[in-house]
Amino acid sequence: MEKEELMEKAIGARRLSYTPYSHFPVGAALLCKDGSLFLGANVENSSYPCGMCAERNAIYNAMMHGKTRDDFEALAIVADCEGVCTPCGMCRQVISELFPSEAPIYLGNLNGLIEEESVESLLPKAFSGDDL
Ligand code: THU
Repeated sequence: MEKEELMEKAIGARRLSYTPYSHFPVGAALLCKDGSLFLGANVENSSYPCGMCAERNAIYNAMMHGKTRDDFEALAIVADCEGVCTPCGMCRQVISELFPSEAPIYLGNLNGLIEEESVESLLPKAFSGDDL
C-alpha cells in the first residue's frame, strides 16, 4: 500500500474520534505485513488524563487482534494541522517499544502533506526495557 493510501485510511479513522474537549480529531492507520489494517482515533474523556491518542489506539487495536511488532509495516498519523501532526511524548515512548525500528511512520495533514519519520527520529535515546 502506498503512503498516500495509508494516509487516506488514517483520515477515515479520524472520523471515529471522540473529541468534545479539544475539538482536535486525530486519525491513525497501522498496516501489517499481511495486508491487514488497524485503525485508531483519539478518544477523550471529561477526566482529561483518561483520554487516549489515535496512534496508541491503533497499535493497541492491532495487538488485541494478535499482532505484534514483527507484524507491523507502516503507521500513518493525521490531523488538521498547518504542518504535519506529530505524536505526543507518551505516544513516542509507546511507539519506541512496540513499533519496529526499520518501519516508516508517516505524519500528515489534511492538505496532503506527508513526512516520513522513524522510531529513532521521533525519540532518540529512548528509555527501554534494557535500561531497567
Ligand atoms: N492527539 C493524538 O491523538 N495524537 C497525536 O499525535 C497528538 C495529540 C490527541 C490527544 C487529544 O485527544 C487531542 O489530540 C489534543 O491533544
